[in-house]
Amino acid sequence: MNKILRNRDFLKNRKGKILIEGVTASSLAKKFGTPLYVYSESRIRANAQRIKNALEKFIPHSKLFYAIKANNNLSVLSILRQEALGADAAGPYEIELAKKAGFSKSKILYSGVFHSDEELKFGLKSGVAINVDSLSAAKRLLHFGKPPLFSMRVNPGIAGGKIKGLVFAGADAKFGESLANATKAFRLAKQRGIKKFGLHMMTGSCVLDDKYFGAATTKLLEFAGKIRKAVGIQFEFIDIGGGLGIPYRAKEKILDVAKAIRVTAKIFRDGVSKFQLGNPQLMLEPGRYIVGDAGVLLTRVGTVKQAQKIFIGVDAGMQTLLRPMLYDAWHEILVDGKLNSRASQKVSVVGPICENTDQLARDRLLPKITEKDLLAILDAGAYGFGMGSNYNTRARPAEVLAKGKSAELIRGREGISEIIGKQKIPQRLKK
Ligand code: LLP
Repeated sequence: MNKILRNRDFLKNRKGKILIEGVTASSLAKKFGTPLYVYSESRIRANAQRIKNALEKFIPHSKLFYAIKANNNLSVLSILRQEALGADAAGPYEIELAKKAGFSKSKILYSGVFHSDEELKFGLKSGVAINVDSLSAAKRLLHFGKPPLFSMRVNPGIAGGKIKGLVFAGADAKFGESLANATKAFRLAKQRGIKKFGLHMMTGSCVLDDKYFGAATTKLLEFAGKIRKAVGIQFEFIDIGGGLGIPYRAKEKILDVAKAIRVTAKIFRDGVSKFQLGNPQLMLEPGRYIVGDAGVLLTRVGTVKQAQKIFIGVDAGMQTLLRPMLYDAWHEILVDGKLNSRASQKVSVVGPICENTDQLARDRLLPKITEKDLLAILDAGAYGFGMGSNYNTRARPAEVLAKGKSAELIRGREGISEIIGKQKIPQRLKK
């Protein structure tokens, strides 16, 4: 158990019970109900500061943006705005969210993929920097208007992340452009009179190898060098994406962020001078690393079924946290009140959805669980709430922000009106 808590200082074991910041998990579940996402404000800040400090130390000419898609709660965004990060938006509504959370236009990058015309027009109108990921989108964007800065995502052919679904570059990836098409796009942008440029990649998510980021940066700088030579432009920033991983399994190693940034910074500086790239900023846009381990999903056990296996039925499922079902992802589970108990039973923790994939953990060794127990599913802060759904007409859960001894509701639980409110029944079906 101590191993699970080793890198999560906002979680404490108080006589077997779970303490999140200074609040007991049981009191949160009682007050706000379950399933419930709980985020630690201090952990979010500490995670962001760890990256910021390393950037300041090893490469001050840099900028740090937060990938909103990891967790789009306005309170989370506001914390990161206070921490002076920028925001990376995946779509028009994420631009809106960033603005609502107080990010200025100059601190928002719109990095969608396979943009529609409407999205490009929206991006232009909102005045934020736009990062396109195809020659097609580049042509359409430049036809619709003249963005203050033109940035493009490339596929540098190197890919990180050990989960198959989290590889975003290389032969099978839909993201980014080839060098040839990117060169064409930058040439068009230059002809259009654009003076400021950015180059972007996002090659994989949840990378725990601190050497990977430098290796990928090398590739991107090679691309930058070739584009500079062919088109005659310099880049304001070179964005190496997100991808900083967290150890979901207690036995996994922790990414040494300072080391990853130190190594990458050196490679960056050397490459910038080798390829005569002027003085671009190194840009980083992580999501998971900042919010992932700062979130806990509390869920109540309703049923213990002793069938061919032991099934622990809880009120969270694939509608609440999809990662285990989609990627076979592992999330550590704590049983409230039993942190000091021996893991003595292999059980499958399953949700209430009518799918057999709706299993949060399969054959997991845990302390003996009884009905009404409260479970905490760890590292649920990134890609948790955001990937939830209303499948089986289930409500999305509430979200709470814990800070010291207090905890506030930052998103209420959905009710039936939010789930079905947009539906309409044609008159003829009402008879
Ligand atoms: N920038 C761009 C353009 C991205 O597409 C992403 C994530 C990020 C930054 C942030 O990546 P991160 O630092 O979080 O690795 N649903 C998956 C993760 C998908 C990530 C998609 N893009 C999961 O649950 O693991």
